Amino acid sequence: MKKIGVLTSGGDAPGMNAAVRAVIRTARYLDMEVVGVQYGYKGLLEEKFVPYDMRGVCDIIHRGGTKLYTARCPEFKKEEVVRQAVQNAKAAGIEGLVVIGGDGSFRGARDLSNFGLPCIAIPGTIDNDIVCTDYTIGFDTCLNTIQALVDRLRDTIESHSRCMVVEVMGARAGYLTLNAGIAVGATAIVIPEIPYDIDKNVIEKIKRTAATGKHHFIVMVAEGVRMRDGITVEEIAKKIEAETAVETRSIVLGHIQRGGSPSVRDRVVASQMGHKAVHLLHEGESNRVVVMHGETITDHDINEALDMSKTIDKDLYNCAMEISL
Ligand code: ADP
Ligand code: F6P
Repeated sequence: MKKIGVLTSGGDAPGMNAAVRAVIRTARYLDMEVVGVQYGYKGLLEEKFVPYDMRGVCDIIHRGGTKLYTARCPEFKKEEVVRQAVQNAKAAGIEGLVVIGGDGSFRGARDLSNFGLPCIAIPGTIDNDIVCTDYTIGFDTCLNTIQALVDRLRDTIESHSRCMVVEVMGARAGYLTLNAGIAVGATAIVIPEIPYDIDKNVIEKIKRTAATGKHHFIVMVAEGVRMRDGITVEEIAKKIEAETAVETRSIVLGHIQRGGSPSVRDRVVASQMGHKAVHLLHEGESNRVVVMHGETITDHDINEALDMSKTIDKDLYNCAMEISL
């Protein structure tokens, strides 16, 4: 293989630039040329190709977002569109592609591989919701951002003896909410993976902890709860205030969670994954996803990966419940 492409797709995540940098540097090390495809699969269709040289990725390892830009491209689910993308890549001399994104992007990579463009996927999403890997690029930075934001909220709720109900990103998954909830010392954590009852798990808990002297409360709620059950943090806040007499506010943290300079962990894992992806292409592999098992970087078949289901860490959840009494 003499020339490969790299793209970022779906929601951006801190560390994607570090992964792109590692892809380019490793490819150059292996004497391969690299073409950056801007705006994900949309750019593959619109032939938004930029050649990269060794120094083309200077000064990006520490930047959040993705310098290659990203997009969602719904028409990529159509076979003729994927075939066109393969044709465009081949016309540009691209013989293999590294795709950095979430599981939606992996489906696109699988289709491209099946239609003749070997692809290696790298898990890049703040949500950490991808099956078959313990870690996705962006998760750690996002957790640190949530923790910093909620620490600020804590200053003000502590001063007013209030409760704050915080909506955290994560699409349909609660990994960000659970981990951040522990890090900020939340009184209650509501995630879609664990059955919940607002009266029992939130309101009773606030009353119980208030009776032992606690006077400010943080309730962390995954956005997946609103997406699936339609219940908003504003509604939860109103209910808490009505039933506990604790003055309560709510906040949706939103996209601020997705920005910012990647943490050390994200830079290192992104670099390892980018490096591994290029070696896989160089060895003639296709339709694989780079994954992390424990602290080990390895790879997995994309089809199998897409068929697995990821479960929440019940021990971590139980730990959160027991230490927030
Ligand atoms: P993420 O990659 O973060 O999960 P999305 O689910 O939005 O984000 O997927 C990103 C892109 O991947 C989509 O806009 C689309 O171009 C492509 N994609 C998603 N699902 C499929 C699918 N079933 N088949 C082919 N391509 C897909
Ligand atoms: O997948 C990353 C993510 O930030 C999710 O946590 C969130 O649900 C979604 O993307 C938001 O997408 P958009 O940027 O299109 O609003």
